Amino acid sequence: MAVLVTGGAGYIGSHTCIELLNEGYEIIVLDNFTNSNPESLKRVEEITGKIFKTYEVDLLDKESVKEVFETNNIESVLHFAGLKAVGESVSLPLSYYQNNITGTVILCEIMQEYGVKNLVFSSSATVYGTPDKVPIKEDSKLGATNPYGRTKHMIEEILRDVAFSDPSWSIALLRYFNPIGAHVSGRIGEDPNGIPNNLMPYISQVAAGKRQQLQIFGNDYPTKDGTGVRDYIHVVDLAVGHLKALEKVQYTKGIDTFNLGTGIGYSVLEMVETFEQVSGRTVPYSITERRSGDISICYADPNKAREQLNWQATRGIEKMCEDTWRWQYHHPNGYDNKLNINNERTPVQHAAGFFNV
Ligand code: WQD
Repeated sequence: MAVLVTGGAGYIGSHTCIELLNEGYEIIVLDNFTNSNPESLKRVEEITGKIFKTYEVDLLDKESVKEVFETNNIESVLHFAGLKAVGESVSLPLSYYQNNITGTVILCEIMQEYGVKNLVFSSSATVYGTPDKVPIKEDSKLGATNPYGRTKHMIEEILRDVAFSDPSWSIALLRYFNPIGAHVSGRIGEDPNGIPNNLMPYISQVAAGKRQQLQIFGNDYPTKDGTGVRDYIHVVDLAVGHLKALEKVQYTKGIDTFNLGTGIGYSVLEMVETFEQVSGRTVPYSITERRSGDISICYADPNKAREQLNWQATRGIEKMCEDTWRWQYHHPNGYDNKLNINNERTPVQHAAGFFNV
């Protein structure tokens, strides 16, 4: 019986594939590679010494998704696939609703048709919007402030309706806080397209000399040093949280929501300082206006996942920065390190078990 990992070539998906394979699971990856690189899957094979099937499929292509279920014995699904850039979602809301929501509905329809009712969904702390208070609990008020966050909230509601309509479903909704870091090998990591939206990849690209300086979006927030405070969680801790949620959905029924965070908030300036200490590089920065839509403080109350999933984050901020730096240092152009001297992407050799339906 296999675990289907949608978006398995992505940042969090690829790290979760490593943990699944190391735990002995048989996995199948489904990815359309619009926001990921097949090279990451080759690295997953290299790191784990295991091979697995990969399908280049878009969730909106219902017949191809159905073919994957028809030709494989799938028991559970970890659903990462989706668009995830907050800023982009504001300018392209329809593609976010189409990709994230319609893609999830199609996936669930086919799961239902094939009797696959175990699902772990990649949600986000963005569903909380501006929290009334911190730390944030799972029953805190929701209030997404952008189309990306609204897709995550709407999908959570859709999945609650599915679970209510058919009690044989077992669904875990995982609300990630701020995933950063990389596998200790330095062979896989976050590989944003173009200019990074998020803080950590931007800091690491400045440290690597790829970018001139970091712009700190505002230092007039009501926080310890005026800069934004977030709950940064190591991507491997996040991946392990998925395995705990997978165990839960395999042995229980119904739907439940879990915050995956450390419960500790760090400011932008603290992140810059820690990264400089760990990397030995300076990260020049300038203070600019606040970024519209940003909130001042956001960090999790992680107790529910600790108590009910037997999971908690174990890697601290220094480790997150150290692992990020190792990846960035060896991959100044991400997976495109294979750019030839003419700065052209060399044809990526697909992973061993690569299929086109
Ligand atoms: C963190 C802090 C910025 C960049 C977003 C999504 C969320 C999740 C994680 C998917 C803030 C500051 C940032 C920069 C800066 N993604 N910053 N200069 O906005 O907390 O969350 O990414 O689920 O859904 O909303 O993360 O890394 O963009 O920002 O000063 O160049 O760093 O103001 O305080 P964010 P972030």
